[in-house]
Formats: sequence, C-alpha cells, structure tokens
Amino acid sequence: MLNAVIAVVISYLLGSVSFSIVIARLVKGIDIRQHGSGNAGATNTLRVLGKGPGIAVFILDILKGVAAVGVGYALNGEYESWTPVLCGLAAIVGHNWPIWFRFKGGKGIATTVGAIMTLAFIPALIAGLVAIAIIAITRYVSVGSLFFAALVPVGVGFMTGAGPLLWASLLICVFAFVRHRSNLVKLVQGKENKLGAKKG
Ligand code: G3P
Repeated sequence: MLNAVIAVVISYLLGSVSFSIVIARLVKGIDIRQHGSGNAGATNTLRVLGKGPGIAVFILDILKGVAAVGVGYALNGEYESWTPVLCGLAAIVGHNWPIWFRFKGGKGIATTVGAIMTLAFIPALIAGLVAIAIIAITRYVSVGSLFFAALVPVGVGFMTGAGPLLWASLLICVFAFVRHRSNLVKLVQGKENKLGAKKG
C-alpha cells in the first residue's frame, strides 16, 4: 500500500511540472497563462512562442505521462492493476492543477497521450490517429483533443473490458471536457482559435 501511495504522490508532483510555464519563462520571460488562450499547454505555447517551444512542450508533457506510469509499474507492490493507472491519472491531475504553479495548469491532453499510450498502446494509437485527422480537417486542436479523450475509453472498453483503466479513462475524459469548457463555448460562438491563427 505504501509503495502505491508513494508512486501516486511522485506522479502528481511530476505532473505538476508544467513545461509550458517553465519554457515560456526561460525563453521569453512571460507567464504563458497570460497570453494567447491563457492555457498552460503545448498548443498555446505553439501559438505564443512558435514551433520549437510548442513541440518541446508537447514532447515533455507526453513524457511526464509516460514517466508517471513507469513509476507506477516500478513501485506497484501488490496493487499491480491499479497503481500504474492511478499514477497516470495523478500526472494528469498534476498537469491540470499543478502544486508548483498555484494549481493553475493546462488541459491535460499531452500528458493523457503519454499515460494512455503507455497503459494501452492500441486504443491510444487509434484515438490519436482520429484526433490528428480531425485537427488536420478542422484546424481545431480542441476538437481533436476532445475526440481523443472520448475515444480512449471506447477503445479501452473494447480491448480490456471493465477494469481500472476503463474507469480511469472515463474520468480522464470528464477532466478533458471540464478543462475545455472555454473552448466549447468559443466553438459554439464561432470564436475558437484555429491552428495557425495568431491570437487567442
Ligand atoms: O490541449 C489543449 C488544446 O486542446 C486547446 O488548447 O490553447 O487552444 O485552449 P487552447
């Protein structure tokens, strides 16, 4: 039990390392949360700081999810089926509500990609390909992100059935929709940012 708790706490602290905030401070001395869409994530970093920092944040945020699940596998103890899943979830919670940055973080999609691709590669791959196609067609990253979050539990349900990963992926999907509230409002109003557009 103690091992599992330690692993989840480490994962939350790791997820709380918001790379968009760190990189924006280092590169331009700004708080990314006060620019563009105001989101501490890869899409907004791309929008505000350009391709290099945007891609770096995307990769680092994915790696956070991968690393957290890795910590879960390393320290799982007797809770083998639950610990890695809870660690992935904890990293996403940390990303969205980071202890290091006054609990104002991102929307958790890149970290979700990292966690889910480590826990269930095929559902992550299928959902990822659909999301990429949607983003390419619509130019709305938020729409692709939400499709990714919604498709993962469907894929996990088909592949592994009911279990820790299905419950966690349903919760992750709820997180994604809650964190994308402002995007959904903007989509309805026709004001959502398109990929490649400058302003947030
Ligand atoms: O993952 C975040 C993305 O879906 C939307 O980001 O900055 O356009 O709100 P943003």
